[in-house]
Amino acid sequence: MAETQSAARRITVRRARRIEELEQVSQLQARIWGAAEVAAPSSLLKAISEAGGVVLLAREGPSAVGFAFGFLGRDHQGRLYHRSHAAGVLPELRDAGVGRSLKLAQRRWARAQGLDRMVWTFDPSQLRNAHFNLHRLGAVARRHHPDYYGRRTDDLNQGRPTDRLVVEWFLNPVLAGRLRARRRLGGLAIPVPPGLLQAGPPPLADLHRLRRQLRRAMGAGMAIVDYDRERGAYVAAELPPGFPPPAE
Ligand SMILES: CC(C)(COP(=O)(O)OP(=O)(O)OC[C@H]1O[C@@H](n2cnc3c(N)ncnc32)[C@H](O)[C@@H]1OP(=O)(O)O)[C@@H](O)C(=O)NCCC(=O)NCCS
Repeated sequence: MAETQSAARRITVRRARRIEELEQVSQLQARIWGAAEVAAPSSLLKAISEAGGVVLLAREGPSAVGFAFGFLGRDHQGRLYHRSHAAGVLPELRDAGVGRSLKLAQRRWARAQGLDRMVWTFDPSQLRNAHFNLHRLGAVARRHHPDYYGRRTDDLNQGRPTDRLVVEWFLNPVLAGRLRARRRLGGLAIPVPPGLLQAGPPPLADLHRLRRQLRRAMGAGMAIVDYDRERGAYVAAELPPGFPPPAE
């Protein structure tokens, strides 16, 4: 599996299976999160890549600049899916399409395994990820968990609750098409309070407001189907028929 993103940047995305490559993925993760303890060790990545999962490494020339990895998941009805656990790109290479190339390569791999859904989590106060996951890729969120990982000390999570939305990316073209059509109709706007965007501990009132609104929409049977960058708001709407229950 290889992909050249652009001749100018010469980005390639390949599957990493050798222990030296997996070590590079582990080191990238430690660098991006600023903490060695959150990085998956190469021994675990090796097991993941040999047992139904995939580890992808993006390079610019010889330098490792980004990664994504995930394993096999199974929902409550026994359906299999690809559970992506982490993806990251070095700060100096962001917004150049590397993250997208990684996700598209991961999707190609999942499809080739016969899987029709990819699932992962992200922090709803990270608007770059919200735009990337919901708007660019077209995933949807049906579950919200306050403080999913408990308190963490890495650079990206320090001093903040680890709230997470669980996103599901439907790879079946029929369901993906229905979602695109639904997204065009718009829905209920859930603005992200500006206080959540600053570094460090978020104002509790803002945190609780976003939690309440996301959970109220989900409690009413809606999914988060988009992120509207112009309005700084999530968009909630009922999904069209034909979707399986949430994976997690
Ligand atoms: C999430 C991540 C992997 C994306 O990688 P990337 O290479 O920057 O992704 P891309 O360049 O393909 O796309 C980024 C998109 O976010 C947009 N974006 C950047 N900053 C933004 C912001 N503050 N608000 C909204 N959108 C933003 C970019 O404009 C681009 O969208 P566009 O193509 O529509 O313009 C990268 O930001 C990252 O490593 N983040 C830190 C680790 C992390 O949070 N990982 C995800 C959870 S495991």
